[in-house]
Amino acid sequence: MFIALLVLGVVVGAAYIYRQVVVKGKQCTSKAKLNGKTVIVTGSNTGIGKTTAIDLAKRGARVILACRSRQRGEAALADVKRESGSNQVVFMQLDLGNLKSVRSFAENYLRSEPRLDILINNAGIYMQGRTEDGFGMMFGINHVGHFLLTNLLLDRLKECQPSRVVNVSSLAHNFGKIDFECLTNHRALGLGTSFLEVLQIYSDSKLCNVLFTHELAKRLQGTKVTCYSLHPGAINSELARNASTLTHIIMKPITTFFFKNTVQGCQTTLHCALQEGIEPLSGRYFSNCTVREVYSKAKDDGAAKKLWEITERMCGLA
Ligand SMILES: NC(=O)c1ccc[n+]([C@@H]2O[C@H](COP(=O)([O-])OP(=O)(O)OC[C@H]3O[C@@H](n4cnc5c(N)ncnc54)[C@H](OP(=O)(O)O)[C@@H]3O)[C@@H](O)[C@H]2O)c1
Ligand SMILES: *[C@@H]1O[C@H](CO)[C@@H](O)[C@H](O)[C@H]1NC(C)=O
Ligand SMILES: *[C@@H]1O[C@H](CO)[C@@H](O)[C@H](O)[C@H]1NC(C)=O
Ligand SMILES: *[C@@H]1O[C@H](CO)[C@@H](O)[C@H](O)[C@H]1NC(C)=O
Repeated sequence: MFIALLVLGVVVGAAYIYRQVVVKGKQCTSKAKLNGKTVIVTGSNTGIGKTTAIDLAKRGARVILACRSRQRGEAALADVKRESGSNQVVFMQLDLGNLKSVRSFAENYLRSEPRLDILINNAGIYMQGRTEDGFGMMFGINHVGHFLLTNLLLDRLKECQPSRVVNVSSLAHNFGKIDFECLTNHRALGLGTSFLEVLQIYSDSKLCNVLFTHELAKRLQGTKVTCYSLHPGAINSELARNASTLTHIIMKPITTFFFKNTVQGCQTTLHCALQEGIEPLSGRYFSNCTVREVYSKAKDDGAAKKLWEITERMCGLA
């Protein structure tokens, strides 16, 4: 009996420490205040986008919640204002799956907001389908929409330098590949809909994020606009909302124990947005609040440039 209790105690204790240290991970330690600065967070009505927005608003930033649903965006606006105690928070409608919406968001923004100090490209989707412009859903939203957005706002970022662009990618980019032929023929990274195919296409879209950060950093050399991509960790969020019920049942014990909550999940985003002194690491990839090496495919100059040029044409910038 005593032995059994002892073993139980050790197991519970070890599990607790594991969750507090390994799962929780490193925290952003920057004390930066952002009074007078303006930040955009895409996809900030839920998940880590929302916790990122709350933290930045607490630091005094004017925070723009760029979300696709007016209803969900306005509900989040009330929550972010309440939880941060700031009223410098604004909702602006942005659907990254619709290039017209991206353009009108940018026009609206440039007309009404004099500053842009930090752009956080956080929105992401894990679901197959097509966007309004006929792109593969994950390619269109996770990559093309943010590509156009970033480019349309780049001059404002330059006017406000030192400024930053932060791209929320994923560890999954390690499994990514870019099939340029499929992109040219189908405006999508892949066409399948099975579990593994969807995972592959998500990973591909996240590799696009890392490659873009690599190419953007090069194009921004000589300016004080810096950019970073990152893996936020495995997080309990709404990202898998479209997975099957069976997947949810199987995953529940795993996500409950091994996944971060959304406050823990936004720490690396905050680190990239705020940490003083990381400017020389522009273009690099972070996780657990630490810069990481990536595979050569994720810093392939040729692929990054090619992807940039294809995307430029796809969204009518070139
Ligand atoms: N959760 C993880 O374990 C994990 C791991 C690695 C990387 N990430 C990345 O972290 C980022 C945030 O994900 P999360 O976990 O916080 O997921 P989430 O809870 O699903 O939040 C995603 C956000 O993106 C928004 N969004 C989706 N499509 C959009 C569109 N077309 N236009 C504008 N906004 C759109 C969603 O808005 P709606 O509510 O309207 O759909 C939502 O606000 C994503 O880029 C994701 O790939 C997450
Ligand atoms: C994150 O870093 C902390 C502190 O260095 C470490 O204890 C933890 O195990 C790391 N977590 C992951 C998931 O790498
Ligand atoms: C972020 O990713 C998007 C899409 O992949 C890209 O267009 C944009 O240039 C990237 N920005 C940075 C700073 O990496
Ligand atoms: C995804 O999930 C949302 C909310 O649960 C639902 O409204 C939508 O129809 C689903 N989409 C697909 C393609 O399953």
